[in-house]
Amino acid sequence: MRLLVVGANGLLGSNVVHSGRQRDWTVMGTYHSTRPKFEIPLTQFDLVEYEAFDEVLETHDPGLVINCAAMTDVDGCEKNPEQANVLNSDAPGALADQCAANDVEFVHVSTDYVFDGTARDPYGEEASPNPVQVYGESKLAGERAVQEADGDHLLTRLSFVWGVHRSSGALTGFPEWVRDQLESGDTVPLFTDQWVTPTRAGQAATTLLDLVDAGATGLYHVACRSCVTPYAFGEVLADQHGADTALLKEGSTDDIDRDAERPTYSCLDVATVESQLGRPQPPLEEDVSKIWDAVR
Ligand SMILES: NC(=O)c1ccc[n+]([C@@H]2O[C@H](COP(=O)([O-])OP(=O)(O)OC[C@H]3O[C@@H](n4cnc5c(N)ncnc54)[C@H](OP(=O)(O)O)[C@@H]3O)[C@@H](O)[C@H]2O)c1
Repeated sequence: MRLLVVGANGLLGSNVVHSGRQRDWTVMGTYHSTRPKFEIPLTQFDLVEYEAFDEVLETHDPGLVINCAAMTDVDGCEKNPEQANVLNSDAPGALADQCAANDVEFVHVSTDYVFDGTARDPYGEEASPNPVQVYGESKLAGERAVQEADGDHLLTRLSFVWGVHRSSGALTGFPEWVRDQLESGDTVPLFTDQWVTPTRAGQAATTLLDLVDAGATGLYHVACRSCVTPYAFGEVLADQHGADTALLKEGSTDDIDRDAERPTYSCLDVATVESQLGRPQPPLEEDVSKIWDAVR
């Protein structure tokens, strides 16, 4: 397989590069501001220039494109909705069209933030989206643009992504901050009133490639099996770290002022991907123990 990863220096993108190389696929990538350290063919590409993506296709001649690039700054999207719509909606739709025109498979990545958070059971793929901030609105518009584009594409939604960045080797996301706080002996204020299904980037990358191998198209939720609060996630991390859980302090989303509203509950139901691949998604403890020794 000739795989082109759009956004190869992102957390997920770097893991998709890593997973593709582990399968002995020919992996190529695009990056935006920072060139990753991978020794693979790389092209600088700004999603704003989405109309010129066919030049990138011509350069690399992939059989598969996985789009891991997006405007992921949720508060930044609130301040700049035009940019959010170009990067998260117009660009993926155009990439999907250009891939179809060139007979290239296309995979796109969306978010649990397409939901409003009023549910109390994990959201299945059939649940009605109703985003409550610009980021979620722009990502939902991106899903629809990909679905309306020519061709049959694979669309996935992830939730609360964390893991090891495979170019820098650094633990990235929420656990990085919790680990650093615990190691410095500082208290760790964590929400007890928000629920997510944390998605380890390496596990998600493997699952995306497994779905491609299975010939899957359509929409899949990809996350761990555990629907937890950040506080409960912190407990798992402290446990793995052998740290004093007394450092964890209960907090509320009301304690901080942010530009964009977040859904209170955005857990994803992963039954469809489990059934498609014939294996369970991991519980959070398994994901954490898988990488913790390498990064502690
Ligand atoms: N992080 C989460 O909790 C989460 C949750 C659910 C879904 N997702 C989705 O998962 C996907 C991957 O996210 P991630 O966590 O890996 O985020 P990330 O680490 O922030 O990666 C995003 C990538 O997009 C690139 N990018 C930003 N603006 C660009 C532009 N104008 N042109 C080209 N590339 C651009 C960034 O490059 P630069 O840094 O160089 O700009 C970065 O490499 C995204 O679609 C995101 O919406 C993420």
